[in-house]
This record gives sequence, structure tokens and C-alpha cells, in this order.
Amino acid sequence: MASKPSIIKAPRGMVDVMPPAIKIWQNIENTAREVFGTYGYSEIRTPILEDTSLFKRGVGESTSVVEKEMYSFTDQGDHDLSLRPEGTASVVRAYIESGMCNIDPLARYYYMGPMFRRERPQKGRQRQFYQIGCELLAAESPYADAEVISMAEHFLKRAGVSDLSLEINSIGCEACRPSFNSALVEYFVKFQGGLCDDCIRRLSKNPLRILDCKNNSCKEIVEKAPRFSAFWCDACVTHFSAVKQTLDGIGVSYVVNEQVVRGLDYYMRTAFEFTTTKLGAQNAVLAGGRYDGLVRGLGGPDVAGIGFAMGMERLVLLLQDSTKKDPVDDVVYFAVIGELAGRKALPVINLLRRDGIRVEWDYAAKSLKSQMRKAGKIEAGSVVIMGDDEITRGEVIVKNMKTGEQQNVRIKDLPFHFINIGG
Ligand code: HAM
Repeated sequence: MASKPSIIKAPRGMVDVMPPAIKIWQNIENTAREVFGTYGYSEIRTPILEDTSLFKRGVGESTSVVEKEMYSFTDQGDHDLSLRPEGTASVVRAYIESGMCNIDPLARYYYMGPMFRRERPQKGRQRQFYQIGCELLAAESPYADAEVISMAEHFLKRAGVSDLSLEINSIGCEACRPSFNSALVEYFVKFQGGLCDDCIRRLSKNPLRILDCKNNSCKEIVEKAPRFSAFWCDACVTHFSAVKQTLDGIGVSYVVNEQVVRGLDYYMRTAFEFTTTKLGAQNAVLAGGRYDGLVRGLGGPDVAGIGFAMGMERLVLLLQDSTKKDPVDDVVYFAVIGELAGRKALPVINLLRRDGIRVEWDYAAKSLKSQMRKAGKIEAGSVVIMGDDEITRGEVIVKNMKTGEQQNVRIKDLPFHFINIGG
């Protein structure tokens, strides 16, 4: 006898999103479309695969994401490709490649989709994870920073997430970075023995990246490292003050946390994170910042950029834990008993569906009791009982599951009956 084929599982750190959990995902996506739309953002969809060089140049070669976490490969045509680890670099590439950067530079995009990072999976951290992100291009004004941050807050509140803290910081610009970098090198050189191998390399290549190293002994050394604020140039001070003032003016609460540095190289000036205490180590639900040099760095004009992205899995975890219940769509369940009823069921069901009424039924005839149990399980608002006797009279029985009330309804009146009761 042939052996039973083995079961193939999804790759580690990559999970299926199945019904009914998908409902929360769809609600979040719909809320994003609705909220971002009111701020003038349009959806953009970019490829999941990009040239590896896009992330090397965009995100930065010495970031952990590019150094260690990308799924990269050479395809049959000898092209170096990577599964996208984040969305900003791709959006900026599309903005430049489409010519929008010259035609209509002030652009607002949002996107949603899977990203890939080969990290150690844990609660709220996966290898394939979903982000919803927004990017605002060619807006230098500090009002843009405040608007983007308040839009993120608006979205989170609208999606039903509460108890988040907003932390903001300014991480300097091209003008003040060099002196900050020198101060970092001067400090870290003294503690070289305690740094991991990656950070020793970063010391000469990109000392800023030591600040977001996840290694515990590096983290201890980072605690007392110099802070950006002592090195901000006048323009950075003015910009950050204006961002804070505008946030105060529109009632967005925040704390300034000088440890918010972000792990991607393109950031400058404003950096922000919305964090929670409910998800353990993976506490950043939504994070972003300004990236004024990125468009130019990827071959486009010298225009500004600012945006954010949120981790869908983390949002879903928070919403699952919250007491806010998802509104269940009112389902009409068809309990069908008998051969004649079985044959007549689908045409009647389709009549209702064509009027936008959601109907479920079990195809295989079962006892009325088991079908009523199923209706209860899916929280159906009404059950339509179709038996052979009723069918011969051109009728069905409709039971309202909330009140327990039953009534006979002519089949031809059925769609009207549900539309009338809002079903
Ligand atoms: P990021 O901080 O790398 O920024 O990621 C943004 C968010 O994605 C995180 O705060 C987290 O919620 C989620 N996330 C990241 N990695 C994982 C993972 N392995 N599993 C689950 N969730 C994860 C960016 O990606 C920037 N592109 C954001 C941005 C847009 N900045 C400007 N514009």
C-alpha cells in the first residue's frame, strides 16, 4: 500500500490568515482606506520583488534589515532580487520611475501588503508580515510632519486601538550628522571590548546604527552614548520646535524620547513611534519619520519625504485583546430539509444574494436540529426553514433568531421581507 503523503507546512515565521480572523484584517484595511482618503492619499501597489540594490542604497547596507534579514537571490537571468523588507524604498522608486516626481511632485500614497524579514519569529514578529504605510513626498514644512503624525493617530483611534504612547525625536540632518557621528565614534571606541562584531564594523562604517543594535551588551553601552539633541543644527532645532508646537496646537499628545533612532538609514530629523505595553518586546505598532535625502539618493530630484508604516499583525493582536467586538454581518441561514426543498433552495438563495443579503447554507441535507445549531454557531440573525410541505405551498418559515418569533413568508416576498427588516 502506498504511504500517506506527508503534510506540507507554511514556512517558519509565515502564517495563514483564515476566516473568521480575516474580518479584523479587512476592517483595518477599510478603515485605512477611509481615513487616509480624507487626507488626500491614494493607494499605490508596487512589486513584492525589487532589485536588491534598491534596498542596499535606500535602506542602507549596514542596517540589520539589509545586512542580515533580506530574502535575496539571483534569478535565472542573473538579476539580484530581494523580497521587499519594507515599502518606502519601493514607493520612492515608483515615484521617480513614473515621472511623478517631476510632473506633480507633491504626492500622497498609501500601501498595504506583505513584507519579508528573516528575523527570529516571536509574538508580533514574523518573517512575512503585513504593513500598511503612508508616504508624503515633496513636503518640507513641519506642518507636514504634524499632519502625518496626527493622521496616524486618527487612524489608530478609528481602528479601535487605544492606550498607545507616541514618542518623537529629531535625529538631525546632513549638516549636524558628521559632528554627532564623530562624538559617537569617540564614545564607542572606549567600549569596543563590549560591542558585538557587527557594531565593531559599524564603528567605522556607520556608527549611528550601533544605537539600534538589538544585542544586550551593546544596548547597555548605548544607554550612556551621546544624544542627538546636543548636536542639532539651528535648522533642526527650528524644525523640531515647529513640529512640537503644531502637535500641541492640534491636541496630539506625545513625549520626546531621545532613544527613538529608527533602524533604517534614510531617516533624518523627525522620527516617531506609537508603542504599546501590551505586546512584550515587539512594542512598536506604527513607526516612521522624515527622509528628505532618499528621493535624491535613489536618482530623483532633491525633494523631501515623510511617512510611516504599521505592523498589521501587531494591530490585530491589540484588537483581538480589546473588548470592542466586531460588528457581525447579519447572516440569513437557510435550513433546508427534504429533496424538493434541496432542489429549490439555490434559486431562492441566489434571489436574496442578488439583493445584497448574505446567505449561508449547508449543501448536504441534515436534520433541522443540526442545521439550527449551525445557525446559532455562525450567529445568524434569521433562519429560513425550507421544507417540502412549505415549498409546495410556495412558502418558507422565517425565524428571527433574536426574538425567537416565526412567521410564514411567500417565497416571492422573501427578498422584500429581508430588505424591509434591514437584513
Ligand atoms: P519599520 O519600523 O522597520 O519601518 O517597520 C514599521 C512597522 O512594521 C513596525 O513598527 C512594526 O509594527 C512592523 N514590523 C516591522 N518588522 C516586523 C516583523 N518582523 N513582524 C511584524 N511586524 C513588523 C519601516 O518599515 C518604514 N518603511 C516605515 C516608514 C514609512 N517610514 C517612513 N515611511
